[in-house]
Amino acid sequence: MTEQQRPDGGRAQGGGTDEPVFRPRKNGQEQSVSEELSAWMRTGWADTEKRDVRPIEQARHTARRRSELSARFPGERLVVPAGGLKTRSNDTEYPFRAATDYVYLSGDQSDDGCLVFEPHEGGGHEVTAYLRPRSNRENGEFWLDGHGELWSGRRNSLAESSALLGLTVHDVRELPALLEKAAGGVATRIVRGHDAALEQIVDELRGGATEESAARDEELAVALHDMRLVKDDWEVEQLQKAVDATVRGFNDVVAVLPQAKATSERYIEGTFFLRARVEGNDVGYGTIAASGPNATTLHWVRNDGPVREGDLLLLDAGVEGTELYTADVTRTLPVSGAFTEVQRRVYDLVYASQEAAIASLAPGRPFREYHRVAQRVLAEGLIEWGLLEGPVDRVVELGLQRRYTLHGTGHMLGLDVHDCARARTEEHLYGELRPGMVLTVEPGLYFQPDDLTVPEELRGIGVRIEDDVLITEDGSRVMSAGLPRASADVEAWLAERMPKA
Ligand code: GLY
Ligand code: MN
Ligand code: MN
Repeated sequence: MTEQQRPDGGRAQGGGTDEPVFRPRKNGQEQSVSEELSAWMRTGWADTEKRDVRPIEQARHTARRRSELSARFPGERLVVPAGGLKTRSNDTEYPFRAATDYVYLSGDQSDDGCLVFEPHEGGGHEVTAYLRPRSNRENGEFWLDGHGELWSGRRNSLAESSALLGLTVHDVRELPALLEKAAGGVATRIVRGHDAALEQIVDELRGGATEESAARDEELAVALHDMRLVKDDWEVEQLQKAVDATVRGFNDVVAVLPQAKATSERYIEGTFFLRARVEGNDVGYGTIAASGPNATTLHWVRNDGPVREGDLLLLDAGVEGTELYTADVTRTLPVSGAFTEVQRRVYDLVYASQEAAIASLAPGRPFREYHRVAQRVLAEGLIEWGLLEGPVDRVVELGLQRRYTLHGTGHMLGLDVHDCARARTEEHLYGELRPGMVLTVEPGLYFQPDDLTVPEELRGIGVRIEDDVLITEDGSRVMSAGLPRASADVEAWLAERMPKA
C-alpha cells in the first residue's frame, strides 16, 4: 500500500465529491480528455453486481483459524496485511502474490487487502477485511488510473467480497485514518514485512518503533506459524492437488527431454512452468533445472546450462495451486534414459537414505529424527566408499558427511515452500511430528566438480530425491508417490515416456 499503489494515494477520501479527478498521463505528459469523452465514459455501463454469491469453500476453515488467533491475543488489535504490488521496472510490476498469513486467515488473494481484528469489550474480536472497492466510474478512475479496473480487470465489489469471504468488508481507503484515530490503550500488533505504510501508521499509534513493539509483532508472526504447522483436511486436499499437478509437470518434462537437449535447461523450466500456470497459480519457488555439474549448486535457478546426453538432470520444482498451497518435489534423471554405473551407485545411496527417512516418520517422533536417520545412511555409504573415515558415530557427531550432503533433510510444506519457518522451536524443530503435518524428505549427495577429496569419477555428480509426505494418525503417506523413485523405476519411466531420439 504505497503512494503509487492506491488510486487515491492510499489515503481515505471518503468517496463522493471528495474523490480526486484522474488525469490521464502518458510518458509523464498529461493527456487531454475532452469533456464530451469524459462525460460519455461515465455513462452506458450495465450493472454487473453479482447478487447470488456463495461463500468460498474454505470460509468455514478461515473462520475457525480467526477464532483461534483471536483466543491467543485477547483484548488486542491485530493487523494482518496482504501487501501490494511491487515495481519491476518503471510502470510494470511483479505478479502479485498475497502474504501467506493474510491468505490463511481470509481466503482472499487480492492486493492491498488487510484484516483487522478489533477487540470487543466483552471478549473476542470483530474481524473486518479492508479491501479495494470497485473502481470509481464517476471520477474516471476506472479507465484513467493505471490500476483502474479497465486496465487490471474487474474486482469484486465490497458486498461480493463480504459474501465470498464470510466477513465484514470495508473500503481499504478508510483504514489508515481509522488506525490513526484508533483508540489509545488498545495494544496493537501487525504482521510485518508486507505493508510499510501500514507499519508506519501502527508504529506511530504505539508511540514510535521500539524493540519491544518489534518483539510483540514477532510474537504474532510466530503464533501464526505455530497455527499453520498442522494442516486441516481442506489444506491437505489443496496440497495433494498441487502435488498431482507437479507429477504431471514432471511427466511433461520427460516428454520434452529431446528438445531440452537441443536447447538448454530453460526448456525444462519453461515446460514445467506451463503446467504450473495452466493448473495452478504459479510455481511455488524458482524451478531448479540443473543438468550435469550444475546439480551440485543447491539453488541453481539460472537454468541456462546445456542438457547433455550422459548427464544427470536434477529437477526441483513445485506447482503452487490456485489456493496458493505448493508442492516441492525433486527427481534426478539420467538424460540418456539409463544411469551409468557410478551415477547409479550415488543415486541408490540417496534412495536408501530417503527410504530409511520416510520409514521413520510417524506421529510422536521427534521432528529431527528423520534427518538423523537419512544422514546416518549417507555417512555409512560414504565411509564404505572410502570418502570418510569411520566409525559412523564419530562422522555424524562431527557432521563430516555434510561436506557432501550439504543441507537438511526436509522442511514443513504448505502455503510457503519452507512453511512455518518462524514457528516456536519447541513446536517445530525440537518438537514432535503430529498428524496433519506435511513435510519434505529430500536427502542428497553433491560432489563438486573441483572437490579433490573425491575420485574424479564422482566429481560433478549431484543427486537429490525429494518427496512430500503427510503425517497420518498411524504413520505417514507419500503424497508424491505418483512419480517413480527407485533407479530401475526411474529408468522404466523414461523408457515409457521419453521420445526416442
Ligand atoms: N526447492 C527448495 C527446497 O527443496 O527446499
Ligand atoms: Mn525442492
Ligand atoms: Mn524442499
